[in-house]
Amino acid sequence: DQNKFQAIISHCKEYGFIFQSSEVYDGLSAVYDYGQYGSELKKNVKDLWWKSMTQMHDNIVGIDAAIFMHPTTWKASGHVDGFSDPMIDNKDSKKRYRVDHLIEGFAANLPTAEAEALISKMEKLEAANDLVGLKQLIDENKITCSVSKTANWTDIRQFNLMFATQLGSVAEEANEIYLRPETAQGIFVNFLNVQKTGRMKIPFGIAQIGKAFRNEIVARQFIFRMREFEQMEMQFFVRPGTEMEWYNFWKEERLKWHKSIGINPGKLRFHDHTKLAFYANAALDIEYEFPFGFKELEGIHSRTNHDLSRHQEFSGKKMQYFDPEINQNYIPYVVETSVGLDRTILMLLSEAYEEQDLSTPEKQDSRVVLKFPAKVAPIKLAIFPLTKKDGLPEIAREIQEQCKPLFRCFYEEKDAIGRRYRRQDAIGTPFCITVDHQTKEDGTVTIRYRDTMEQERVGVDQLIQIVTKEINK
Ligand code: GAP
Repeated sequence: DQNKFQAIISHCKEYGFIFQSSEVYDGLSAVYDYGQYGSELKKNVKDLWWKSMTQMHDNIVGIDAAIFMHPTTWKASGHVDGFSDPMIDNKDSKKRYRVDHLIEGFAANLPTAEAEALISKMEKLEAANDLVGLKQLIDENKITCSVSKTANWTDIRQFNLMFATQLGSVAEEANEIYLRPETAQGIFVNFLNVQKTGRMKIPFGIAQIGKAFRNEIVARQFIFRMREFEQMEMQFFVRPGTEMEWYNFWKEERLKWHKSIGINPGKLRFHDHTKLAFYANAALDIEYEFPFGFKELEGIHSRTNHDLSRHQEFSGKKMQYFDPEINQNYIPYVVETSVGLDRTILMLLSEAYEEQDLSTPEKQDSRVVLKFPAKVAPIKLAIFPLTKKDGLPEIAREIQEQCKPLFRCFYEEKDAIGRRYRRQDAIGTPFCITVDHQTKEDGTVTIRYRDTMEQERVGVDQLIQIVTKEINK
């Protein structure tokens, strides 16, 4: 539903979740900044993922590797030679297209059976890296698409997605390095450092959250596909032969995590890869039904010992583990879970966003509410004195002092209470309290629940209990 998607994008901007990068200069394409609420939301998601991986599994530890890595890393990983997309330029419009997107566009105009045949032909040619064949396919099919019917296309070229930059001063010997296109390689090259210093025994995992950079050609769809984004990755090192067991374990474990942050299970599904990389023995995506359809959220890959073997080959350093249980040396197999943090944020926003008609026969009314689970909500509790006088702000501030070491609060005394509630609904605050004259007498406040809009009177101790219980659910 494109309307809902556009509404979410505007909402994110209007309420301080996500801004276009360098907006005063008209923005930078496919780069975004997280604002005051977006960054809280993101931090909460990172903390939940980190806890679920490290604190909840005593055989998984976290690291924080650098974004810059030795250039040979990317030769070993295959990114220098293989991390590219076939691109084609339209000579008339001077626009550049990803070949797969162009052909998918053609397919969209065809009857289902023909469209499927076209896509499967494209996938075969892509897998074989047959650029001439792909060009032919475009020439044969462009007639079906009005935009490209008369278009004049260039040949297809491979376009590497890594950003390059120079290390050191210009005077020094040019030393081209890349901004990492995934966080995983920082884990692979540190495999033995962590295993030895942490005295880790297989099976064990290394988790990491960090920025990754890809020069995506077609970067649409808001924070779904960005040029600078964040990944939350975990490599699980296992004894060869046990990888399928762990692959199945992590597949279920990760699905459970998405449900645990409040995602409707009906909007999540597994998509098994039919085309596997030559080294992989199983791979799937966890997909979420975004407003623009089911799309990849997370990848789970059984990568054999491919990555470690390549680093052993290129570095000349042994990447082996001695397994005391079977008295053998081997290069461990790896099961990887890799989820986009920004895609997780877009999923949470899509799941939470609701426009509600609250009209009664007497009065027209509506609200936009973000129904975040309390544990991801940027603000947990909003505190409102009913009026700015009679000592109510002072009492409200006292309650804030009591609550703020425990969870994120927000204090506001401007405007009618109803309008203050609506502003909190729009940023997803699960609880609001109002301090009124009765508070002065019996110490109770009115708590108002975001989703039901119901209100009740509670004491301050009870209030803290209600909020903490919901956050830790
Ligand atoms: N280490 C494996 C790896 O990087 P990937 O499928 O290329 O695998 C993993 O990326 C996840 O990172 C994706 O499922 C997606 O959530 C996220 N991701 C990839 N490219 C992205 C981009 N340009 N913008 C936002 N998120 C992206």
